[in-house]
Amino acid sequence: MYVCLCKGVSDHQIRQTVEDGARSWRDVQRETGCGTQCGKCACQGKVITREAVKAE
Ligand code: FES
Repeated sequence: MYVCLCKGVSDHQIRQTVEDGARSWRDVQRETGCGTQCGKCACQGKVITREAVKAE
């Protein structure tokens, strides 16, 4: 499922980014570009990132 339409970032990609070492929403933004354009996806992106980091 796409979380970020501007940058074409899926929830899977966010989880993968955390698996690859991202530890914060800021890291995910830097790695994927998620939330860096219109910002509409930021809330959902943060939640997915937080859950993925917790599960690590
Ligand atoms: Fe993610 Fe626009 S939907 S920045």
